[in-house]
Amino acid sequence: MLLQMMTWAEVERHLKCSNGIVIPIGSTEQHGPIGLIGTDAICPEVIAGLAAEKTGALIGPTISVGMAQHHLAFPGSIALRPTTLIAVIKDYVLSLARNGFERFYFLNGHGGNIATVGAAFSEIYSETSFERNSTRPPIRCKLANWFAFPEIKTLCEEFYGDRDGRHATASEVAVTQYAYPEHIKRAEMDKAPPAARAFCDAVDYRMLFPDGRIEADSFLATPDHGERLARVSAECVAADFKKFLTEA
Ligand code: NI
Repeated sequence: MLLQMMTWAEVERHLKCSNGIVIPIGSTEQHGPIGLIGTDAICPEVIAGLAAEKTGALIGPTISVGMAQHHLAFPGSIALRPTTLIAVIKDYVLSLARNGFERFYFLNGHGGNIATVGAAFSEIYSETSFERNSTRPPIRCKLANWFAFPEIKTLCEEFYGDRDGRHATASEVAVTQYAYPEHIKRAEMDKAPPAARAFCDAVDYRMLFPDGRIEADSFLATPDHGERLARVSAECVAADFKKFLTEA
């Protein structure tokens, strides 16, 4: 169920049965020669949708722009500063918490968000920690990366060996090809783009990784791989979310 397709009365009824919500979070950034700019938001959104079919989970509006300053030297990329993203996440959570949501499961599609999302959770918890004898209901937040479940790692190895890579990965491109076959792109590109190494700002990133990819042979992606990856990840998310709703 998508929050945006419900009425407030339906949400109020839903809250009587469950106080959990899944919020996809991604990024709007270059993904190499054939990867869509929206890849990191599309993947968790699609996977959250499939997981919701199994669990009846409520899906909140995707946070589509993330911490992506290092991609800004490529046209089309948009970034929120870490402090801005922290503020966005905090306001999402506290808005929904005001009316009874307590468990927030962020399904992430972008490695660059991880540190900032963790900091946002600490800011949210600080709201109650600094209040002595707080009467606020207990908010619990969890971050899960759709690509990090062991079952997904195994599939990636089966499909791509060691060529899935670090950015503009074949696996994430495959999920977007499954979701939006009408937007599949083709382009010439080198095999085995530069290996991963530390980078700083956007200029540095573009100099080190000229076509945007890090280690990733994105051209190995197929829509069939994408469907399998999305469905397996959705099963993992469904089980993980269910557990998150009931754990102390
Ligand atoms: Ni990505």
